[in-house]
Amino acid sequence: MTTTIVSGGLVITAADEITADVLIEDGKVAALAAPDSAYARGWRADRVIDATGKYVIPGGVDAHTHFELPFGGTSSSDTFETGTRAAAWGGTTTVVDFAVQSKGQALRAGLDAWHAKAEGRCAIDYAFHMILSDVHESSLKEMDLLVGEGVTSFKLFMAYPGVFYSDDGQILRAMQRAAGNGGLIMMHAENGIAIDVLVEQALAAGKTDPRYHGEVRRALLEAEATHRAIQLARVAGSPLYVVHVSAEEAVAELAQARDKGLPVFGETCPQYLFLSTDNLAEPGFEGAKYVCSTPLRPREHQAALWRGLRTDDLQVVSTDHCPFCFSGQKELGRGDFSKIPNGLPGVENRMDLLHQAVVDGHISRRRWIEIACAAPARMFGLAPHKGTIAPGGDADIVVYDPHARQTLSASTHHMNVDYSAYEGKQITGQVETVLSRGETVIDKRKFTGRAGHGRYVPRTTCQYLP
Ligand code: URP
Ligand code: ZN
Ligand code: ZN
Ligand code: ZN
Repeated sequence: MTTTIVSGGLVITAADEITADVLIEDGKVAALAAPDSAYARGWRADRVIDATGKYVIPGGVDAHTHFELPFGGTSSSDTFETGTRAAAWGGTTTVVDFAVQSKGQALRAGLDAWHAKAEGRCAIDYAFHMILSDVHESSLKEMDLLVGEGVTSFKLFMAYPGVFYSDDGQILRAMQRAAGNGGLIMMHAENGIAIDVLVEQALAAGKTDPRYHGEVRRALLEAEATHRAIQLARVAGSPLYVVHVSAEEAVAELAQARDKGLPVFGETCPQYLFLSTDNLAEPGFEGAKYVCSTPLRPREHQAALWRGLRTDDLQVVSTDHCPFCFSGQKELGRGDFSKIPNGLPGVENRMDLLHQAVVDGHISRRRWIEIACAAPARMFGLAPHKGTIAPGGDADIVVYDPHARQTLSASTHHMNVDYSAYEGKQITGQVETVLSRGETVIDKRKFTGRAGHGRYVPRTTCQYLP
């Protein structure tokens, strides 16, 4: 049994900020104590990590990643090996990736395929949600089995007709099933049928540049779908988690539902907090780097997202990390924005960008940890092992230097993608050391982890529900 002490740092959780020594035994947090207490002086350790002047925070939980996702005629460019390594560099120690049920396929086949991609390759712990793209009697029955084995959340799409799209009847059935088995329905809320009409009209009018991706995927069509999803969930009696919320009008729908006391939750992503349609309009096809769905919005939407994060109308910030290289992948959509593979890289940047939000005064330090670690862990049944620093929990711990300065860039990041969505952005704060279940994965900014250290984590159901 190896024993480690992380000494003298400011331990920040969603609940508290205390200067403390943290004792780690056998991969778990064993105790916290005041640094010079007689109790802490009695500890014996194989190794002491000096965190004086640093933050000691729970490893990040990124509840929305897409590694090796086949999409738009290509595949997202991070593998489970490269993606989880990049996550670790950025202070994230757990990811929940989306296994995909293809049309005509059983959930089991999709889940097995994702286990095969991840097994033995991850640097940090991982879990799975399941994307339902073919809702029928047998896939509904399979949902019960998946919940029983720790895949307790299911993503449905109101967008992407012909690919992942489910109609309202299929959505209602899946919600009814989730109401019975404890699963959490995650919704991509955009009216894809209406969007496809606007796409066709834009292309026919010669509007082919990346910025039209943002124009046809109207905020109102996100709000409409969010409203419809909430009403369908009410009818089914199921909870609902809306993914990648980007529009002010959609936040308003969530806030209204929550004011009624409904079990409705929302996630946003760093790209919606820090980027905008200005990026989509960058000249020379550069805008393709910023094509994702829901799309980036005009800057004015950001205030509503920050407010939602402060008031708890939005509970989680995940990345929706879905990288495609500019060269050879985003370029598939030159001359037709609808053929640009959708998705942005970011799994390595989330903890830093949200720390910058603390520096900028958008959120408090504890709220940073809540939206990036504690809430996603509770939302997706990973607590109490993940998302906090407490006796008995996994020793997934980040020593974070709040004063370090860094510049985000593709030339220094570790994600397997040839651009950064945040190229040149200055950040105050940087990950220094990362432990995953007590093992050093990043040691003073050197990668010391290994593919295969990361374990599959079966999840319980949503811990915000009674
Ligand atoms: O553009 C995005 N978000 N790509 C990934 C798939 C999804 O809808 O989350
Ligand atoms: Zn989506
Ligand atoms: Zn996604
Ligand atoms: Zn290990």
